[in-house]
Amino acid sequence: MTVMTDPQQITRIDALEKVIRSRRSCRSFAGQVPDEVLQKIVESAIYAPFAAGAGISLKEGRRIFIFRQGTEAMDQARQIIEAQLRSGASRIGMAVRFLPFLRKKMGFFADRISTTATQGIPGLTEGAFYIVAAEKKGFPPLASQTLAHVMENMWLTATAHGVGIQILSVTNGLTQHKGFMQLLNLPPGQWALNGCVVGMPKHPPNNKRKRDTEYFIHWVGENKKNNQ
Ligand SMILES: Cc1cc2nc3c(=O)[nH]c(=O)nc-3n(C[C@H](O)[C@H](O)[C@H](O)COP(=O)(O)O)c2cc1C
Repeated sequence: MTVMTDPQQITRIDALEKVIRSRRSCRSFAGQVPDEVLQKIVESAIYAPFAAGAGISLKEGRRIFIFRQGTEAMDQARQIIEAQLRSGASRIGMAVRFLPFLRKKMGFFADRISTTATQGIPGLTEGAFYIVAAEKKGFPPLASQTLAHVMENMWLTATAHGVGIQILSVTNGLTQHKGFMQLLNLPPGQWALNGCVVGMPKHPPNNKRKRDTEYFIHWVGENKKNNQ
């Protein structure tokens, strides 16, 4: 095996490792993100892999939508998301109340969504942009999986630019929502969605966390130290 010693390559590897390790969720925003930086973030989404084997081309199957804070479209999106959170919290609250066997599995999430529905998502008013990524559903059903790659590309690019991202999973559940899909000019039900707030972090992110990587990694069939 050859190990790269080219100084340029080492710098790139170090930079990539730094970006990956310092990526954090941001939930409090202030200030503007320059349009050129936003452009780089959304362009990185187009370079994320797509499930070519499902027979849908990248051009046919991927869309990225930008909502700018302060616009009417953004207000509409926020209202739809808040209503979605309230109805989700109410349905899950009922389920865990009346079906006790679900409490163990869903109790934590039920409490979380109930708090979010009551308090709202600050990022939706503080963040400079709300970005929605859409991937056309096909067979095999890989669109949601693909969207994870799309979001990660944007997240890492934003991190490299010092910009914060908050994933908004509530977006995933809006694929059938007529009003929301109308904002995107897409037919309901045919596209998987994911979304995130993009903005300048109000507080400096805590990048100093350490992960006990050995705990997670297992070499199969080799007698290595961490193979417990
Ligand atoms: C599939 C997925 C969905 C997520 N949904 C949300 C969300 O709806 N709202 C949110 O604030 N964070 C969301 N997150 C972010 C996680 O809570 C976060 O990544 C985790 O707490 C670890 O923190 P870190 O991102 O700072 O490393 C989501 C993350 C993943 C992978």
